[in-house]
Amino acid sequence: MAGMLADKNILVTGVLLESSIAFHAAKLAQEQGANVILTAYGRVSLVERIAKRLPKPVPVVELDVSDRAQLDSLATRVGQYAEELDGVVHSIGASPSDTLGGNFLHAPWDSVAQALHVSAYSFASLSSACLPLMRKGGSIVGIDFDSSLAWPDYDWMGVAKASLESVSRYLARYLGAQSIRVNLVASGPIRTMASRSIPSFDAFVDIWEKRSPIHWDENDPVPTAKAVVALLSDWFPATTGEIVHVDAGLHAVGA
Ligand SMILES: NC(=O)c1ccc[n+]([C@@H]2O[C@H](COP(=O)([O-])OP(=O)(O)OC[C@H]3O[C@@H](n4cnc5c(N)ncnc54)[C@H](O)[C@@H]3O)[C@@H](O)[C@H]2O)c1
Repeated sequence: MAGMLADKNILVTGVLLESSIAFHAAKLAQEQGANVILTAYGRVSLVERIAKRLPKPVPVVELDVSDRAQLDSLATRVGQYAEELDGVVHSIGASPSDTLGGNFLHAPWDSVAQALHVSAYSFASLSSACLPLMRKGGSIVGIDFDSSLAWPDYDWMGVAKASLESVSRYLARYLGAQSIRVNLVASGPIRTMASRSIPSFDAFVDIWEKRSPIHWDENDPVPTAKAVVALLSDWFPATTGEIVHVDAGLHAVGA
């Protein structure tokens, strides 16, 4: 099949609902010729149901990135559907409610540790788990929210995203020798299940409406998904350790 990802095998994590950024990345990847395999965190039958809305049928493999045994068996379980992987999408983030919403100074370490484990360390542990299937090199892409600034209410999730950015650079350093590129897409705000846990999400939307140089639509995950597909493709052959901002230019302007 023709397309930017023709005949590539791509593992996509992070599909929960049709609103998930990962759902749109998987959809576009299929439209661009990829064979997609999804992972599901816990609710496998829900993800299988949502996956039926994709253009083509996909296998769904269970994965909780905080479960060592599931990571250790991932390559074998994914290997039932694809001998090799050409790309991996990390679209995973979670932060307990006591780490968000203005509780920064009082957030307990256990909750912060959970946020860092699931949202940042998992970029490395997922990548390592997929390495046995990436013998020919490939592309790993994660989803970021610009963490060069302190945002209202984003709190320890912002710290987790800063860690994700650093993890991404180290992965680029350590996986380059295996011809694996590692990049992030720093997305503007999009209405998803994860965004509902950010109390001042509407304030973000207001900031984007007032300040972004070009129009941003918080109900449209497609621009972010397009960047993911582009980074998975052969069209960024010399780009790694990069953060591509898909935020209507907001990161580039002041007040
Ligand atoms: N929505 C936004 O405004 C926005 C902006 C920038 C970046 N992001 C990032 O995009 C990514 C995807 O989020 P989304 O907005 O599509 O929301 P979403 O709620 O649809 O997706 C988050 C996913 O994380 C998964 N997840 C949570 N804990 C997990 C675990 N232990 N193991 C495996 N998977 C787990 C959930 O199952 C879900 O599929 C996240 O990294 C998020 O931080 C979102």
